Amino acid sequence: MANMSPEAALQSEPVRFVELVFPDQANHYGTLFGGNALSLMGKAAFVAATRHARCAVVMASTDHVQFETPVQVGELAELTSWVSRIGRSSMTVNVEVTAETLVTGQRRRAMHGSFEMIAVDDSGRPRGVHLFSPRDV
Ligand SMILES: CC(C)(COP(=O)(O)OP(=O)(O)OC[C@H]1O[C@@H](n2cnc3c(N)ncnc32)[C@H](O)[C@@H]1OP(=O)(O)O)[C@@H](O)C(=O)NCCC(=O)NCCS
Repeated sequence: MANMSPEAALQSEPVRFVELVFPDQANHYGTLFGGNALSLMGKAAFVAATRHARCAVVMASTDHVQFETPVQVGELAELTSWVSRIGRSSMTVNVEVTAETLVTGQRRRAMHGSFEMIAVDDSGRPRGVHLFSPRDV
């Protein structure tokens, strides 16, 4: 198993997934509720960080989450997340959400933010981030 440099690790594939926004995720304006959007972004950050560390991770903080344009019920929210910095046990994960109107294909960035995720051991204490990937086996 070859070690990856931090630079190489940062070039790994971003995580992508889509969510079709249903009324139960909306606020009374008919758009994706901010709290639900944050939950989706947190999941995206969690997956990106866990794929890097290949161990348990927890969220320590969020930073600069910006809601740029609302996502309407019936639209897709496409989430993309990637690790942009690796510390000893911490990882900064950037998350972007793109809204897509399905019938027209029109897309626009709806929100973005960054999350500090920490690799932890079985006791929940910080541990070093693994800088290798199963793809290098
Ligand atoms: C996150 C947590 C493990 C950090 O524990 P700690 O004892 O403060 O850890 P340390 O001071 O040794 O710092 C460890 C790393 O976390 C980083 N860190 C700690 N608190 C942070 C914060 N609020 N924001 C950003 N980074 C933070 C440190 O910079 C350090 O990074 P490095 O190892 O890359 O240098 C601990 O605060 C915790 O368990 N918090 C609750 C997490 C949680 O329940 N999240 C929600 C569910 S996922």
